[in-house]
Amino acid sequence: MKKIKKVVIPAAGLGTRFFPITKSIPKEMLPIIDVPVIQVIIDEAVKAGLEEVIIVNSRDKKATEHYFQADEDLEKMLLAKGQEDLVKLLKQIETKVKITFTYQDNPQGLGHAVLCAKEAVGDEPFAVLLGDDIVVNYQGEPAIKQLMRVYEEVNCSIVGVQEVAKEDVSKYGIVKALKMQGRLSELCDLVEKPAIEEAPSCLAILGCYILTPKIFELLATQERGAGNEIQLTDAIKRLVSLEGVYAYNFEGQRFDVGDKLGYVMANINFALHRKEYRKPLLAYLKEEIEKETI
Ligand code: UTP
Repeated sequence: MKKIKKVVIPAAGLGTRFFPITKSIPKEMLPIIDVPVIQVIIDEAVKAGLEEVIIVNSRDKKATEHYFQADEDLEKMLLAKGQEDLVKLLKQIETKVKITFTYQDNPQGLGHAVLCAKEAVGDEPFAVLLGDDIVVNYQGEPAIKQLMRVYEEVNCSIVGVQEVAKEDVSKYGIVKALKMQGRLSELCDLVEKPAIEEAPSCLAILGCYILTPKIFELLATQERGAGNEIQLTDAIKRLVSLEGVYAYNFEGQRFDVGDKLGYVMANINFALHRKEYRKPLLAYLKEEIEKETI
């Protein structure tokens, strides 16, 4: 069995739910306090033991690439001011893990974005983490590590799922699973963004996957689906009958930071987990809660 070493992060979408700011700042570069969303996701991937990050970027999103490039002039300036600690902080961004950029010239859907990473991935199983989905599991393993562990058992593609509210099923890829055994189940079907009455369950695919390279063959011939886009869910659906696919109900709290409220919640959550901000933030929130109206 081939080890999972690479993670693909699709980050070429338009981010229309987050307009107008995403007209000039990619949503993957919005800050979670002081680091961009994509850095938080990469940190989880590194913690999970992944060795190479492949970012599928848009050529218009220059800020994402700039963030990962060394800036010698800035470093020289900081050194001249005696700020070695800041230089060290910046160096960590470039040296933490190998980062490769590949491009999606036109945002034609998540499935198409993953297909754009075909050359960079090669013929091996790989992980996918969405560029606008953060999962935290403070006490335990990163969500993607949980899926990597399961892959060693089942040797098949795995989608990370969690239960969502019934009224939200139409926002996600929804799975129909055979009987869950603990957190794991074999899949029998999946549907992209079903209407409430057509959803086979409330288990939604939430931003983390382990996929076998067979997915590239399927994506290359995948017809357009929901939103007239090439959907990853539709290709995984075909993979179910060819190789089998599992669903794993991962442990952790997930934030959709491509959504404004999800983004604000993620920032509050991260701030509450930073020692220096927890107390004053809780005091402030308490004060706000006690006010009757805004
Ligand atoms: P989303 O569907 O949340 O991104 O895709 P979007 O299309 O940018 O969102 P809205 O609805 O317009 O706000 C999840 C991830 O996949 C990437 C996005 O950048 C995001 O990180 N993606 C999506 C691509 O790389 N290419 C695409 O064609 C679509």
